[in-house]
Amino acid sequence: MSDTALTPTAAASGASATERFLTDKTSLPTEGTDTARVNTLATEVLTAVHDVIRRHRVTYDEYNALKAWLIAVGQDGEWPLFLDVWIEHVVEEVAGAAREGSKGTIEGPYYVPGAPALPSTAVLPMRENEPGTPLLFQGQVTGVSGEPLGGALLEMWQADDDGLYAQFAPGLPEWNLRGSVVADAEGRFAVTTVEPAPYQIPTDGSCGRLIAAAGWHAWRPAHLHLKVSAPGYEPLTTQLYFRGGEHIQDDVASAVKPELVLDPRPASGGGNEVVYDFVLDPAS
Ligand code: DHB
Ligand code: FE
Repeated sequence: MSDTALTPTAAASGASATERFLTDKTSLPTEGTDTARVNTLATEVLTAVHDVIRRHRVTYDEYNALKAWLIAVGQDGEWPLFLDVWIEHVVEEVAGAAREGSKGTIEGPYYVPGAPALPSTAVLPMRENEPGTPLLFQGQVTGVSGEPLGGALLEMWQADDDGLYAQFAPGLPEWNLRGSVVADAEGRFAVTTVEPAPYQIPTDGSCGRLIAAAGWHAWRPAHLHLKVSAPGYEPLTTQLYFRGGEHIQDDVASAVKPELVLDPRPASGGGNEVVYDFVLDPAS
């Protein structure tokens, strides 16, 4: 990014991610929560923390640093980022364990429902001269018995060639590189987009301070995000990566799986092309 006025800040993208989460997810059930389950989970989490404090003889200075940091995560709006980078992958592992069809992975904080509807052969909304290598992404959506899922919905979102997501970084058109593709009667789709760049989680907020303090890095490999759904089938939330891409082996969010790595080839008309099929499980 050359224009520093358009550089995303942790506070701005964190605030957008927090607001987005509270808009979309507050309909999730909180009433009728099972007291015994809450007791078990809360007790075990606290016991694990107590154990770390005892084993490592955590000092008051360290306790106060943690307290200040936790307060700052909220003030920076970085709870969605923190949770989706360091916790969500295990929740997804548990949730997806029984899946027979395609592998899923984490959703992350940047999904926005209601992206523009697109036909089965489409170009994702993008700027004129959108930077990046053009990518033709095509395939078919079926059920586990191979039945084609005509009219399946593929919601796609991705970072641009600067690693930035529309609606969370300033200066991008609202729906840039976001679309809701409707597959044809055989479940097929062919979407033209550009290859995204690796994504760096914001380094100027609390998550960045943790990363720096712990000597970690802040990078996710380049990825396409998808939610694939069809009536009567279990929706799939996944991401696709690029073979040989930077940080495939050391994703800060631990979300890469071998089945999710694309191997695009040069296309005859320029850019790259790749085929990837999705298999949905029946609704449980
Ligand atoms: C985060 C960003 C992503 O693009 C993603 O896929 C997962 C997590 C994050 O910043 O928390
Ligand atoms: Fe992402």
